[in-house]
Amino acid sequence: MLVALMASACFAEDITDAEAVLRADGTPGDPEYGAYLAQECAACHLAESTSAVPSIAGIEPGYFRMAMAEYGSRIRENAAMENVARSLGDEELAALAAYFATNQH
Ligand code: HEC
Repeated sequence: MLVALMASACFAEDITDAEAVLRADGTPGDPEYGAYLAQECAACHLAESTSAVPSIAGIEPGYFRMAMAEYGSRIRENAAMENVARSLGDEELAALAAYFATNQH
């Protein structure tokens, strides 16, 4: 657990919110595509957190990209989110980050 927290601190420094909404080639993610993709997340992620599933409404883009990288690489172990993270490519992650950036409160 401590290792995971320390690793996330490193990732957090690596990706800023401004970088998180960009694809690897530097073009911005499409927030409308992100809104479309986020419908899939709502099956588990409700507007309010539950004990098992945190809310992702208005999540910070940099934190979001970090969390997805951690689930995909199993630094954070969660089978459901590992599947989700591995199913999303660079374009999808940038689009979701761009959508979350428009939705912060
Ligand atoms: C099958 C259910 C399910 C689906 C679908 C799902 N998630 Fe999750 N998600 C979870 C659970 C459960 C957790 C908490 C896992 C943990 O304890 O680390 C989580 C955690 C997260 C976190 C970490 C939140 C935090 O506060 O650290 C993010 C970010 C996230 N999900 C994003 C998404 C996105 C984006 C989608 C849609 C593309 C999605 N999830 C779809 C179940 C799901």
